Amino acid sequence: MDLLQAPILETERLRLRSFRRSDLDDYAALNADPEVLRYLGCGPQPWDRGRASRHMAFLLGHWQVWGSGTWAVEHRETGAFIGMVGFSEPEGWPGFELAWTLVRRWWGYGYATEAARAALDYAFTVLKRDRVISLIYPENRASIRVAERLGERLQGRIDHFGREMLCYGIDRESHAAQMAQESLVVGRA
Ligand SMILES: CC(C)(COP(=O)(O)OP(=O)(O)OC[C@H]1O[C@@H](n2cnc3c(N)ncnc32)[C@H](O)[C@@H]1OP(=O)(O)O)[C@@H](O)C(=O)NCCC(=O)NCCS
Repeated sequence: MDLLQAPILETERLRLRSFRRSDLDDYAALNADPEVLRYLGCGPQPWDRGRASRHMAFLLGHWQVWGSGTWAVEHRETGAFIGMVGFSEPEGWPGFELAWTLVRRWWGYGYATEAARAALDYAFTVLKRDRVISLIYPENRASIRVAERLGERLQGRIDHFGREMLCYGIDRESHAAQMAQESLVVGRA
């Protein structure tokens, strides 16, 4: 049986790759930071190492079962693990969700936007998806900015596991238009 792994995607500063066992220390540290967890659906209680290891298995299994999933994000220059970006769509999910989470010391450099843009491109060009959503707590300003920079627009509010969340989204045509606009801007610079 072929085991489906996250493909490697490279951007100017980042490498998106499959999670591996040696990421466990970094993944456990990421999920033990209450500031990181503050606006995540799991709540702000720090995870223990066992929970982090079980969740890593879920992330890898998501690729196997649903043919897409989450990448570990690595800083190309240093090889450091800086976080994760990718898709969730288990049974009952409200759509094909793109989400991003970075280790705190790497916030504020545009890395979430850069990594998410590569994932979004992958969704439309390789996975041929028609639509991608992002579910964001209304208080999560940084995340809302990432969604906006990707060209996602607010579609509405939904109840997600008992919490009200903003549902941002973008479809294939709007993404293509956004890419064309960005290449025009780069071309002019
Ligand atoms: C959300 C997150 C991934 C953003 O990462 P990042 O690499 O710092 O994001 P970027 O550098 O691409 O910045 C995106 C925008 O958010 C803005 N921003 C960053 N932190 C902010 C804050 N605390 N409040 C308001 N805006 C903020 C940046 O200025 C930038 O806006 P700009 O384009 O107007 O300059 C990071 O804060 C994080 O990991 N948070 C915890 C996990 C989380 O909440 N994930 C999202 C779940 S929906």
